[in-house]
Amino acid sequence: MTIRKALLSAAILSSTLGSAAQAEEVNVYSFRQEFLLKPLLEAFTAETGIKVNVVFASKGLLERIEHEGRNTPADLLLTADIGPLHDAVERDLVAPISSEVIDRNVPAHFRAEDGKWIGLTSRARIIYASTERVKEGEITSYEELADPKWKGRICTRSGKHTYNLSLIGSMIAHHGEAEAEKWLEGVKANLARKPQGNDRAQVKAIKEGVCDLALGNSYYYGKMATNEKEPEQKEWAASANLVFPNQDSRGTHMNISGAALTKYAPHPEAAVKLVEFLTEKKAQQLYAEANFEFPVRPNTPWSDLLEEKMSGFKGDEINLGKVAAQRANAAKLVDKVGFDN
Ligand SMILES: [Fe+2]
Repeated sequence: MTIRKALLSAAILSSTLGSAAQAEEVNVYSFRQEFLLKPLLEAFTAETGIKVNVVFASKGLLERIEHEGRNTPADLLLTADIGPLHDAVERDLVAPISSEVIDRNVPAHFRAEDGKWIGLTSRARIIYASTERVKEGEITSYEELADPKWKGRICTRSGKHTYNLSLIGSMIAHHGEAEAEKWLEGVKANLARKPQGNDRAQVKAIKEGVCDLALGNSYYYGKMATNEKEPEQKEWAASANLVFPNQDSRGTHMNISGAALTKYAPHPEAAVKLVEFLTEKKAQQLYAEANFEFPVRPNTPWSDLLEEKMSGFKGDEINLGKVAAQRANAAKLVDKVGFDN
């Protein structure tokens, strides 16, 4: 052995030993915002000694994992919607997770049968209804949004937004494509204006009298009703009643924030430990409360505000994978009926 080679192998040996002695770590690519995750990840590190490194981004993370291929440092992908999780699976970027802890903590309809995505918090896509112009019980289902009596009275963001693609996907999953198309045409005919803005902007439009019904995620109620930075949002929230659709049938359409293990995760065991940690009671409570979402884990306390405004509703228990599988068809329907035009 040459001196150089000997030095090199000694260096490799010591760096291997060095890393074994160092703390374990897990690398996360997250679409979820930092403020939601930070306290949870700190608690995880305190409990396990495993360090968590996070890359936060609002877009481009799937492309990044794809581009990095086998060399990706990413172990886990965290998303705010089933959409990107489903896309990651379709793009073959994901490895299955098999865990008894997760199976015990996360209801089957909020995780993939093959373990390729796991729901961590849930939210309902609800109807915000004007307290002044819509009587209680006047609208009780998504299907009724297509009733001509609501002509010129409905506001929503783009039909192509990921939240609406999942909702339309659920309509296709339950009713078939032809019926879902008729429904979407009917909803379009009832719109008060061209789809625009985010979910909160629709509730603002109710407050301003632009429309009487709006589609929006449930957690935005909490974010508006407690908004000290922009107190006018409290008035938006107060202008609407919360309608959880389809209580007499399949239940309200639900979506999740969730996690997937990357196919080439360098630290798969630590990554699964982190997902397991996030499904346990304490983390579930913290994670859900931070964004006015629902814990996916049954028998986990809700925040007071959610308990008061939202407890006791029935959520649709169709496996979200079946809904996500219809998202591409949903996008086609949005184009076909010219929903956003
Ligand atoms: Fe959102």
